[in-house]
Amino acid sequence: MTSWLSSSPPLALLSAPRRKLSSTVAAAIPQGKETVKTMPEFDFKGYMLSKAAAVNRALDLAVPLDEPRRIHEAMRYSLLACGKRVHPILCIAACELAGGPQALAIPPAVAVEMIHTMSLIHDDLPCMDNDDLRRWQPSCHRAFGEPLAVLAGAALLSLAFRILSDPKSYPSDLSPPPSRVLRCISELARCVGSEGLVAGQVADMESTGLSESVPIDRVEYIHIHKTAALLEASVVLGAIIGGGSDPQSIERLRRYARCIGLLYQVVDDILDVTKSSQELGKTAGKDLVSDKSTYPKLIGLEKSREFVEELNHEAKQHLEEFDPEKAAPLLHLANYITEAGWINNNNN
Ligand code: FPP
Ligand code: MG
Repeated sequence: MTSWLSSSPPLALLSAPRRKLSSTVAAAIPQGKETVKTMPEFDFKGYMLSKAAAVNRALDLAVPLDEPRRIHEAMRYSLLACGKRVHPILCIAACELAGGPQALAIPPAVAVEMIHTMSLIHDDLPCMDNDDLRRWQPSCHRAFGEPLAVLAGAALLSLAFRILSDPKSYPSDLSPPPSRVLRCISELARCVGSEGLVAGQVADMESTGLSESVPIDRVEYIHIHKTAALLEASVVLGAIIGGGSDPQSIERLRRYARCIGLLYQVVDDILDVTKSSQELGKTAGKDLVSDKSTYPKLIGLEKSREFVEELNHEAKQHLEEFDPEKAAPLLHLANYITEAGWINNNNN
């Protein structure tokens, strides 16, 4: 597997020259030994439904229809649309794995979903991917116009940090120590800015529509930054807010999150060429039309699918040191993303 998955550099170091892919996968799997234990029985569907309901309730309350009404309408339009809610659910699952209650994870869970939504609003803008459809409805700028879409994204970004940092966001009997909240703010800011999402989006733009082929490690860089960074933050924030204090456990969760973050975007690349717009709730085939650098384009569909399976396997290996029952949600979430479970649930 890729070297950055096995080691654990901060995001800023992910752009450092990489050792070659692959040998680490073989080395990481002890011969003749079952490394990934049988999955514990777990009602994953019930889990997802109940966590998504809790997240949706919190999102609804977080953005009231105050004045100026139009901007709050635009924010709610994108935020409350039919999203997968994978980021906030990962955050809650990591918090509970670290021993914290769900209520403590709701503010960071809301924050990561707001930032995910704002990144999609901006990604769809005419100056970026110029996409008309998102979450089964016209994209924010198509519904509200470009200026309001830009502002809705900016407002969601700042609201995310306000909710995460405001002591009043947390139940009074569960107030997390300020040091934990501060770590979460710093972690999230790093993953979102020019070391994280923004870096990935810039590299994506610069690698789109080129006549020459883009190297695979450049595509990996794009995916790690524009997509995996926020999934990493979702998991790490959950673990921190839940009281996870063992640095090694946090690092294991970080590595798990990087694996599922990369696999999430490779799956997205695959779906773009294998599913319809109706199934995806966004414009299918867009990567091909805009000549984006994707895994299927560079290594083909079959190898992309194999890579997804490898990443899923490695993600689960990073969970092996945890109590299997407590880690079950994260284990199942890795499969859910691998199998694009939301397609069948008609929930994107
Ligand atoms: C979707 O990728 C886009 C992203 C994962 C991230 C986009 C990031 C930005 C626009 C930067 C946002 C700014 C801040 C400050 C966070 P895609 O186009 O491959 O997928 P799609 O098919 O869903 O559009
Ligand atoms: Mg896009």
